[in-house]
Amino acid sequence: MSSPLDIQQGFPDAARHQIAVLYDAAFGAKLGIAIPDAKLRLQILAEAFDPSHAFVAISGTQILGVAGFKSRHSSLTVGISSSLLRKRLGLFGWLRALSILALFERKLGPDQLLMDGLCVAPEARGSGIGSQLLDRLKQFAAEEGYRTIRLDVIDTNPGARRLYERLGFVPRTSTHFAYLRWLLGFSAATTMEYRLAPAA
Ligand SMILES: CC(C)(COP(=O)(O)OP(=O)(O)OC[C@H]1O[C@@H](n2cnc3c(N)ncnc32)[C@H](O)[C@@H]1OP(=O)(O)O)[C@@H](O)C(=O)NCCC(=O)NCCS
Repeated sequence: MSSPLDIQQGFPDAARHQIAVLYDAAFGAKLGIAIPDAKLRLQILAEAFDPSHAFVAISGTQILGVAGFKSRHSSLTVGISSSLLRKRLGLFGWLRALSILALFERKLGPDQLLMDGLCVAPEARGSGIGSQLLDRLKQFAAEEGYRTIRLDVIDTNPGARRLYERLGFVPRTSTHFAYLRWLLGFSAATTMEYRLAPAA
């Protein structure tokens, strides 16, 4: 990494494609079940992003990491709507995407922020970028008066779970869906929560 790393909220439209590539490299296997065509998936992601609901790690012009989140106002991937999917996919593709994405739908609790994707470029992993993004998100959540940050981590991703535990996230509940392993590639997910200290 040559230029210093900066963590900022939001990103310009010119970065949409770069962020879609990053997001897809991390979550494409899961999203690919809903939208198998990689080119269409990138196009839909880039179009659907709400940049206000992301912190990005930038070095020079290169985006090395993204932490998306969902609040009661919006979410990074808010635009992956039925109407966008209908516009971009054929009837069968639209129905397939809707039914798969429904499995990943998560509701917000009161005063809660929900993670909507944390990903770091493969070549930049292990150098603290994911931790810095999460720290920035915690700071934002505290400033905005949220009480908890919630996320779901799947059973096949113990590395990410270790990172969350180190940063103070605590496992709350686990959901098992062994019958969906053949489809999703994982059979359990753990909901983890970070509690923000109440304002003094
Ligand atoms: C998980 C992820 C965001 C961590 O980002 P990062 O910048 O590498 O994280 P940091 O450098 O701050 O911390 C490193 C920790 O991340 C975790 N980690 C998970 N996958 C890792 C990987 N491929 N390389 C390095 N660290 C990884 C480990 O717990 C590691 O800590 P350890 O060295 O004690 O094992 C990143 O690996 C990633 O984008 N993975 C793919 C997408 C993903 O799994 N996102 C989380 C979904 S819940």
